[in-house]
Amino acid sequence: MLRLPKAVRFLNLTTVPAPAPAVFPPLPGPTPLSDLQREVLELKRKADAVILAHNYQCEDIQGVADFVGDSLGLAYKAAETRASTIVFCGVHFMAETAKIVNPGRRVLLPDLEAGCSLADSCPAERLAQVKAENPGLAVVAYINCSAAVKALADVICTSGNASRIVERIPADREILFVPDQNLGQWVSQRTGRRMRLWPGSCYAHVQFTPTALLRAKALHPGAPVVAHPECTEAVRGLADEVCSTELMVAWARRQVSPTLIVTTESGMIHRLRREVPDKTFVAAPTDRCSCNECRYMKMNTLAKLRDCLANGGPEITLDEGIRAAAEVPLRRMLEWSK
Ligand code: 13P
Ligand code: SF4
Repeated sequence: MLRLPKAVRFLNLTTVPAPAPAVFPPLPGPTPLSDLQREVLELKRKADAVILAHNYQCEDIQGVADFVGDSLGLAYKAAETRASTIVFCGVHFMAETAKIVNPGRRVLLPDLEAGCSLADSCPAERLAQVKAENPGLAVVAYINCSAAVKALADVICTSGNASRIVERIPADREILFVPDQNLGQWVSQRTGRRMRLWPGSCYAHVQFTPTALLRAKALHPGAPVVAHPECTEAVRGLADEVCSTELMVAWARRQVSPTLIVTTESGMIHRLRREVPDKTFVAAPTDRCSCNECRYMKMNTLAKLRDCLANGGPEITLDEGIRAAAEVPLRRMLEWSK
């Protein structure tokens, strides 16, 4: 049996103080580019590439991106671009989305292992089986899913347009919402539309707890709280606003309070600090950590981005049948949320 030192054996974990939330005061000014960032920009120019980055990417990647945004904004940007290469700094399903609307362009992802727990929770074969057993279902798929799942959906949505999309489904159709049960529940509560919810969740967002959020609120009294809809109902219930990462920027601009608590992946704070420079942002903690990072989003690094531009890979490839089938519900979303 493993013998622990006496001091460790008598440590009562319930008395270990919970970590204080990370606090980000206003930036002193613009951050100068590093040598590696300059190298990336030069490689990007030579490759006629566009760099699209999600709000959760690390600060140095956001600093060289042509566009930083949420899944919806990134899907529109991907559909608009004329660059021959798209380097997608985000997770795999986001790069796949860019490929779905750009079959003729090269789409690169700095780390092909950058997946998503939500996307993993809904294998296409299981969804196909549920559809076969329930032929009348209208499938609304949150964009956080594989291309093969998108190919089985009636329409795609993001956290920025989910309520609007669900409201467009005829009232006599029963909806199956995949794969995020928390987002689905939030949409159902907002729209009054009953839906079947796929039992998936984001491993990172469900780590926020009411206890940890109440602790942040107690340390920053009066600071308004924004939360992503992938958080649990108990956490959403403590927030002043629940919205997509893009809408968090507009929300932060509207607040009079100098300090705001942000309950989502902590990369979001880089974007907020740049675009809402007069505020102090508090990253909502979890029970174990003073902020919350998505391990998949953080697999991309500036060095991998440089290598990916230099080597022309790793590249996203899709079976053409799946791509073409996935493009239909994806274009439908882009049309419905104009
Ligand atoms: P947004 O669409 O709000 O950016 O969210 C994407 C995501 O992966 C949240 O975990
Ligand atoms: Fe997926 Fe969650 Fe990471 Fe977003 S934060 S990419 S939903 S695992």
